[in-house]
Amino acid sequence: MAKMEVKTSLLDDMIGVGDMVLLEPLNEDSFINNLKKRFDHNEVYTYIGSVVISINPYRSLPIYNPEKVEEYRNRNFYELSPHIFALADEAYRSLRDQDKDQCILITGESGAGKTEASKLVMSYVAAVCGKGAEVNQVKEQLLQSNPVLEAFGNAKTVRNDNSSRFGKYMDIEFDFKGDPLGGVISNYLLEKSRVVKQPRGERNFHIFYQILSGASEEFLCKLKLERDFSRYNYLGLDSARVNGVDDASNFRTVRNAMQIVGFMDHETQSVFEVVAAVLKLGNIEFKPESRANGLDESKIKDKNELKEICELTGIDQSVLERAFSFRTVEAKQEKVSTTLNVAQAYYARDALAKNLYSRLFSWLVTRINESIKAQTKVRKKVMGVLDIYGFEIFENADNSFEQFIINYCNEKLQQIFIELTLKEEQEEYIREGIEWTHIEYFNNAIICDLIENNQTGILAMLDEECLRPGTVTDDTFLEKLNQVCATHQHFESRMSKCSRFLNDTSLPHSCFRIQHYAGKVMYQVEGFVDKNNDLLYRDLSQAMWKANHSLIKALFPEGNPAKINLKRPPTAGSQFKASVATLMKNLQTKNPNYIRCIKPNDKKAAHIFNEALVCHQIRYLGLLENVRVRRAGYAFRQPYEPCLERYKMLCKQTWPHWRGPARAGVEVLFNELGIPEDEFSFGRSKIFIRNPRTLFKLEDLRKQRLEDLATLIEKIYRGWKCRTRFLLMKKCQIVIASWYRRYAQQKKYQKIKSSAITVQSYIRGWKARKVLRELKHLKRCNEAATVIAAYWHGTQARRELRRLKDEARNKHAIAVIWAFWLGYKARRELKRLKEEARRKHAVAVIWAYWLGLKVRREYRKFFRANAGRKIYEFTLQRLMQKYFLEMKNKMPSLSPIDKNWPARPYLFLDSTHKELKRIFHLWRCKKYRDQFTDQQKLIYEEKLEASELFKDKKALYPASVGQPFQGAYLEISENPKYKKLKDAVDEKIIIAEVVNKINRANGKAASRIFLLTKNNVLLADQKSGTIKSEVPLGDVTKVSMSSQNDGFFAVHLKEGSEAASKGDFLLSSDHLIEMATKLYRTTLSQTKQKLNIEISDEFLVQFKQDKVCVKFIQGSQKNGNIPTCKRKNNRLLEVAVP
Ligand SMILES: Nc1ncnc2c1ncn2[C@@H]1O[C@H](COP(=O)(O)OP(=O)(O)OP(=O)(O)O)[C@@H](O)[C@H]1O
Ligand SMILES: [Mg+2]
Repeated sequence: MAKMEVKTSLLDDMIGVGDMVLLEPLNEDSFINNLKKRFDHNEVYTYIGSVVISINPYRSLPIYNPEKVEEYRNRNFYELSPHIFALADEAYRSLRDQDKDQCILITGESGAGKTEASKLVMSYVAAVCGKGAEVNQVKEQLLQSNPVLEAFGNAKTVRNDNSSRFGKYMDIEFDFKGDPLGGVISNYLLEKSRVVKQPRGERNFHIFYQILSGASEEFLCKLKLERDFSRYNYLGLDSARVNGVDDASNFRTVRNAMQIVGFMDHETQSVFEVVAAVLKLGNIEFKPESRANGLDESKIKDKNELKEICELTGIDQSVLERAFSFRTVEAKQEKVSTTLNVAQAYYARDALAKNLYSRLFSWLVTRINESIKAQTKVRKKVMGVLDIYGFEIFENADNSFEQFIINYCNEKLQQIFIELTLKEEQEEYIREGIEWTHIEYFNNAIICDLIENNQTGILAMLDEECLRPGTVTDDTFLEKLNQVCATHQHFESRMSKCSRFLNDTSLPHSCFRIQHYAGKVMYQVEGFVDKNNDLLYRDLSQAMWKANHSLIKALFPEGNPAKINLKRPPTAGSQFKASVATLMKNLQTKNPNYIRCIKPNDKKAAHIFNEALVCHQIRYLGLLENVRVRRAGYAFRQPYEPCLERYKMLCKQTWPHWRGPARAGVEVLFNELGIPEDEFSFGRSKIFIRNPRTLFKLEDLRKQRLEDLATLIEKIYRGWKCRTRFLLMKKCQIVIASWYRRYAQQKKYQKIKSSAITVQSYIRGWKARKVLRELKHLKRCNEAATVIAAYWHGTQARRELRRLKDEARNKHAIAVIWAFWLGYKARRELKRLKEEARRKHAVAVIWAYWLGLKVRREYRKFFRANAGRKIYEFTLQRLMQKYFLEMKNKMPSLSPIDKNWPARPYLFLDSTHKELKRIFHLWRCKKYRDQFTDQQKLIYEEKLEASELFKDKKALYPASVGQPFQGAYLEISENPKYKKLKDAVDEKIIIAEVVNKINRANGKAASRIFLLTKNNVLLADQKSGTIKSEVPLGDVTKVSMSSQNDGFFAVHLKEGSEAASKGDFLLSSDHLIEMATKLYRTTLSQTKQKLNIEISDEFLVQFKQDKVCVKFIQGSQKNGNIPTCKRKNNRLLEVAVP
């Protein structure tokens, strides 16, 4: 069923007036009353033309659910009751369909609901713009940047439990379809003084409390923090907990959001480390210490906290400690170091904490921007959302530099608001071809000039004062202000002699007052110079730059001594002025949409509407002025189509349908209604109504006419209803009568019909019986005739049958005789044919034999000459083939030690068979060798060498065959026990093994480490690893050993060499074969000479001066298999080998 579209309007069911432009009469009271009336009926939004006024309801209203989003989606701005969604929808559609960049400017005082409004706008746009996995991720990242920035940039204040302490401007970028691509966030002036001190009843930034409440014990321990808030001087304690705020769960939300936005784990960790460091900085305390020169110096009271900060941030403790005690001032060539007193040290500490935190915050914004940056280079449409601190006025002259800066920003916003509203109004008039009438309004450019003028502006003078040499104080600044600005009509001060305010006691001497567009604000001059300078001692920034912490290092680039810059950094004021100028430039290129937030009470409570408070806000937001500007020409305007649609029932020509153009219809309508001509004007596409009264008159007429129309409709409907009922009843009666008549006739007919049938059946029965009787008689006559005829035919037939049978019998006899005759003839013929065939075959066989005989006789002579040799060759070839084929199947395995070889089949193949066996063996040996790695090759080479040297010569040799030649049996380089030894030997170790050294005196053995390197043989003490002897390989002349199963061997040294002074070595080792082989090989490769290896059961060994004979004899098996060695006399050492 097609859905019927119902055209609604803002004017339907209006509570008060939904658009202040229609307020009549227009004054402050009626304005406030209208707001109050709407607020009491839960209508928190009201329009001034296209501007939305939003009153903070301080409770959750069911007006932001998905159904509401659907309701406002793609609807015209004035179609439904005022809502922030209508504004968001208008902005989004105009961006998407008309390609106009948008900005949404949200202003209002602290707690008025700016941040909530900005989030509502963002969530509405997110809900109505494109969908899809990629787009959703972009949306999610944009939305999740909010909790992160709020945790670090928001705090509980007396006005707002979640007060933004920074200004935020976010550009959301879209593609041509209106799908979000990414965004850019700019932040303005974080209130960093809050880090070190909070006013009573307020808290520090949320993140500090969130970490302490929400982080796990383990994480806190990592950050060297304790859960107890009271441990930290920087945390205001009187309101550490906020009702309805769960810091712990918010901490989890923030971490989750950071993850979604794309922070890496190590980045998150670094961020929290910086936060922890800031918190701990507050606990550093100083005490005074007098120095000999009479100057006061400060000392850190308890260095524990400082130590932990340094551990956390990777800063050298002494560097930071010095930065807290000294200040170095660098002029062009000179460097002067002065000590800091206690007050200066505290100042330095706080400045560091503030700077660390505010730079961290800016870093976070940059980092988020990196993540949410649009990934494509296509042309983007932009929707900017500005959530900036509203005008701030503290009582009792508590307004300081921050308020001055904030109010300056609002002054600029007001200026742009006036400019853009008037511009838009004027553009619409021109677009619609309506004459432009000049509108009187207050232009606040003069106040902006008072603050920002490059020569005489307050900010310029503050900068000048800050940069001036000599003593500069807040008072000298005020003096200067008094000289330059005294005559300015928006500047008030008591100091100047000719001041108009000399007798104004409400203005203290240390204050000046500015008449802002929103009201007068008194600024306390104290702290202006300091805050504008925003000084951080260079020693501190250099200390931070030296931190072994990549984030902190990056936060203080000016600390890099290589980039030292003697120029002063730009002041806070000038930085802010520049960023505001950029913002204004940016806003001017976009189509503005305004949300003016109003706070209904100071108690953060629902349902309370404090008229005085609201009145104050209306005044300084300039809302009445706004309405006046909007109404200056024509109060109400509407396109012709909806206007005609709404009021067409007021005139006969246009009701119910107007066939011509809408404009003509409206003209007819207005003429008919007799509305005075100066009350309205026809634009190109809209009708402009000068006075709300006219509109309300139209609305009243419409209401009246609607009532009349309703009565008319009711009347016609009732008549129609009765008539239809009557017609229906009449129709029913006819139907019933006809049905009854039909029924009666039917019954009568049935009765007649059944009587006729009875009579008819009697007659028919009588007739049938008569016919039956006649038929029966006829049948009986027919039957008698048939029987007689049948007898006669029978006789005839039997006679004929008999005749036929005789005839058939004769015919059969003839046929049989004929068949016998034919068979006889056929058998005789067959016999003859068979005889003939046999004869023919015999002739053929005899002929073939004869031919064969002839052929054999013919070819016998050829056969004898050649066939014998051919048969021989063929047979030989077959035998060889068979031999090889069988061989193929009987091949032995590829193992070189497999001795199997198939038996030889034929004697004549004997030599071939042996040769094949040899070739095969060589081939598989090669195959086997090819698998060797280089290392295995080396080992086999060594093994081969050993076999050549010792096989069949030394009884110990067979036992060595199975041993892997490991060489380094001791792990000199790994085992810490041999560290000393390892340090002493810097060559590659070929053998490291424990050997027994035989004592010359008694033949007893002592353990030694035997080392063979490329160039030396070394003996070292086994326990201490001290090198006892070191012999160059060139000095080893011979190695002697027995032919028996023992491991004794003597190493003979070159006579006269340095090593020979102590005599030859007599050693014993289980790995003798390996050692001798390696020694032999190494000597050969190093000295190119073959080492002499003597194998004899008796040889001489040089012991110091004497030569001793070592003799090997067959001993008993007393000591098992161990040979024993005994000194027999001066000249004989006997070794008994079992
Ligand atoms: N539309 C709303 N519906 C329900 N509650 C709201 C709404 N707008 C604001 N609030 C409530 O008011 C509180 C303050 O709002 P918000 O933080 O947006 O103020 P603000 O104007 O951003 O203030 P500040 O300038 O201090 O940042 C919110 O925490 C919320 O409880
Ligand atoms: Mg806020």
